[in-house]
Amino acid sequence: MLKNILNKFELNKGDIITLLQAKDENEINLIFQKADEVRKKYCGNEVHLRGIIEFSNYCEQNCLYCGLRKDNSSLERYRMTIDEILQTAEKIYEAGIKTIVLQSGEDITCTGNEIAEIIRLIKNEFDVAITLSLGERDYEDYKLWKKAGADRYLLKHETANPKLYSIYHLGQMLQDRIQHLLYLKSLGYQIGSGNIVGLPNQTLEDIAGDILLCKQLDVDMASFSPFIPSPDSPYRKQKRCDVNFILLVMAIARIVLKNVHIPATTALATLDPEGREKGLRAGANVIMPNFTPAPYKEKYSIYANKKTDDNIMHYVIEAAASEGRIISETKGQSLKLSTEVTQNE
Ligand code: 5AD
Ligand code: SF4
Repeated sequence: MLKNILNKFELNKGDIITLLQAKDENEINLIFQKADEVRKKYCGNEVHLRGIIEFSNYCEQNCLYCGLRKDNSSLERYRMTIDEILQTAEKIYEAGIKTIVLQSGEDITCTGNEIAEIIRLIKNEFDVAITLSLGERDYEDYKLWKKAGADRYLLKHETANPKLYSIYHLGQMLQDRIQHLLYLKSLGYQIGSGNIVGLPNQTLEDIAGDILLCKQLDVDMASFSPFIPSPDSPYRKQKRCDVNFILLVMAIARIVLKNVHIPATTALATLDPEGREKGLRAGANVIMPNFTPAPYKEKYSIYANKKTDDNIMHYVIEAAASEGRIISETKGQSLKLSTEVTQNE
């Protein structure tokens, strides 16, 4: 039964739910084996690194699961200066990383022009790809930033269940989030989406829906992070996601989505000291080391005890090496630009 599903080229929702229900150790091993095969076939042995700069923790949103939410008045807010951002970009470039991720909460006080200027300055100085992860903004801003040189945009759909979406995001609509992803795609961005696994009231069917929405949107990158409660959020008393379960979700996502980038997230590394290694074994081909400098990085506290390694490159290189993988020296563009997925290969 499970073997038959793993031999299918296209998995439907029922198939994905069956895989998510796997409890038997042999069955789970078969899923991880298949994910590793698919990863090898479509992504090879390279691990792509994306250096993150969390340049502002101001946020206009009140997502129920997140410690950066606007109503969290106990959090000291910061915004890095342009010089600090450029110095951090230089550190990332010097570490040999060819993608810089500019990440912030939904900080509406950072104007579209200010962000465009940061993009231009980084692009002028360093030969890197730029990923933006700034939440929902106006179409005109997305357009301006693309023109300024941004390459990719990461905007997770968080949950593909419209009812849960409106609960977690206080009445906001899933269809608006999807519309933003479509805007970004139409402007020529490589897009990233994904979910949080283990949120309250989420079912296996919801998670299957998350994977299938990534497929439907034809994303270039899909990120599945384990839920970890933030003490400064309404979900402070909720249970964290089990590490084996998030690994299973990642592996199934790899089997279904094939030629997309899947990161071993910081949240996974926070849950388990060997999270990065385990993630690489479960279909991941990307690691996103955080370069946010002190004293800011402690303040980007999305969830409790977020992992902030001082010598991050050391850990990342070790993790890749221990899994027999090589660190990519390229920008690690979308796999969809080079590989076509056909059944008759
Ligand atoms: N646990 C795990 N991931 C979270 N995020 C926000 N809050 C949490 C949490 N408690 C993720 C969301 C968001 C990104 C900035 O962090 O997916 O897109
Ligand atoms: Fe803000 Fe993003 Fe956190 Fe939501 S998940 S509160 S948009 S930083």
